[in-house]
Formats: sequence, structure tokens, C-alpha cells
Amino acid sequence: MTSEAVKESILEADFDAIVAAGDRVEPRDWMPEGYRKTLVRQIAQHAHSEIIGMQPEGNWITRAPSLRRKAILLAKVQDEAGHGLYLYSACETLGVSRDELTRLLIAGKQKYSSIFNYPTLSYADVGTIGWLVDGAAICNQVPLCRTSFGPYGRAMIRICKEESFHQRQGYELLMTMMRGTDEQRAMVQESVDRFWWPALMMFGPPDEESPNTAQSMAWGIKRNTNDDLRQRFVDMTVPQAEALGVTLPDPDLRWNDERGHHDFGQPDWDEFMQVVKGNGPCNAQRLVHRRRAHEDGAWVREAATAFAAKASA
Ligand SMILES: [Fe+2]
Ligand SMILES: [Fe+2]
Repeated sequence: MTSEAVKESILEADFDAIVAAGDRVEPRDWMPEGYRKTLVRQIAQHAHSEIIGMQPEGNWITRAPSLRRKAILLAKVQDEAGHGLYLYSACETLGVSRDELTRLLIAGKQKYSSIFNYPTLSYADVGTIGWLVDGAAICNQVPLCRTSFGPYGRAMIRICKEESFHQRQGYELLMTMMRGTDEQRAMVQESVDRFWWPALMMFGPPDEESPNTAQSMAWGIKRNTNDDLRQRFVDMTVPQAEALGVTLPDPDLRWNDERGHHDFGQPDWDEFMQVVKGNGPCNAQRLVHRRRAHEDGAWVREAATAFAAKASA
């Protein structure tokens, strides 16, 4: 072995020991290149999801039915912007700038969660997104608070606290509508029918079709498999649906006494692949909107850069 190779094998052993002990890897620590790349891809995708996710709900801010509902929705959408910024910052500790990540997003070279490529057709969708989409995000994200990369885990702790507010505001909105007129109850049911399957897709493909899961778990980036998290979400959501008085649109959904979990049907994975490939109902619209917002903000970035240069001079 050359002295370089010896040095690297010592560093790698240190890294493995940190991960095995469940400690945090920090930005200045040595890490395998594959670990760094996987994290950049995952954190960037997560950051982009927060930012693109502002669009479907932002669609309803000007049409919220009361001042109170408008204030809640504004606060929620602003939280999502904050989540995006925490996560871009976490990603920057791995040596990729937010500018570069934004460029990759608007060039269509990095992905965001498939769920945000579905339209928000009624105001009830604001409630359903809070309940089901933020609910699924919580299931995904709570274990990430213990992820092996320090900046990512710490960002997730803060984000999860806000996500639980998001979920409750959605549930409270739906509960209010369910106590209203028949028309309002029908609106809630129609919205849940549209979002249930896309929400289940948020956990990613079934484990046997998720080739990166094993490596991500070995590195302590992921703590649970896609199917585990999907099961946890279904078990958590079924009693909430009962309390709400809505029907989840899955004829195979039933309690399994032997397993101690609910059995449930599979989403349409062909539809999922189409949405991931860019052919969902709103993919093009979301990117056009994000690109335009980025261009419209160019003068702010220029002014801030000029101001910073002047201040430091
Ligand atoms: Fe968020
Ligand atoms: Fe959220």
C-alpha cells in the first residue's frame, strides 16, 4: 500500500466507527465520495421539494375563505420556504452552493417529490395536503432527525416541529368542513380520493425496486425502508380518517390481526414512474413557474451582492 492508501484506510475506519456508533458525521470529517454524493442528491431533492411544494398551496392564498384561513395558509407556505433554506444551507456544507442547486433544479436535472406535480383543484386540497402530504412527510422525516450527517439531522429537528403544526392545521380545516354542509363533506371526500394514492407514493418505490436503500441504511443516512415507512403512515392515518368521517379509497384496506398492521393496496407504480420522469399533470407548469420566479429575483441577488461588496470594502 502507498502511504496515501494507508492514510485513506485509516480515515475510512474512523468514518465507519462514527457511523457504527450512531454518532454524527460533520462537514469537516473525511467521508467516502459516494456518501457525499448520496447526501447532496437527497438533501437537494428534499430542499427542492420544500420550495416547489409552495406552489400548489400558494395557489389558494388569494382565495382563502376568511382572514384567519389566509393567515394560517400564508404562515404555512412561508414555513416551507424556510425549510428549503435550512436544507440548502445543509447541502452547502457539502461543498455545493445554493445557486448551483437552483440551476440544476430549473434545468430539470435534479428532482423534487412527485406529489407536488398534482394540481390543487379545490380549497379542501389545502386541508388534505396538510393532513396527508405533511403527514407522510413527518413519517419520512422524523427518523431523519437521527440521520448520520450532522447538518441534515439538525435541520430536520427544526423542520419536524413545524411539520406537525402543518399537519394539524390541515386536519382542523378538514374537520371544520366535515362539520359543515353536505357539499363541503363531498368536497373533502373528493379531495381525499385524489390525494390518497399520490401520498402513498411519497415513500418511494417498493423495497425490492429501491436499489439504493441498503447502502443508504448502511451509511446511517436512511433509518427505515420505504415499505416500513409507508406501513407506519397507513397505520397512523386510518384512525384519523375514521375520526374525520372520510373513506380512504382503497378496497383492500383492512386491519390484519396477525400482523398487527393494516393491509392495503398498492398505488399505480406506472403512474408514479411517469410523474417522476416529468410527465405528471403539473411538472412543466411547476418548473416554468420556478424558473420565472428565479429570473424575476435576479435584481435582488445583484443588489444584495453589490451591497455585500460595498459593506466589506
Ligand atoms: Fe416542509
Ligand atoms: Fe409542511
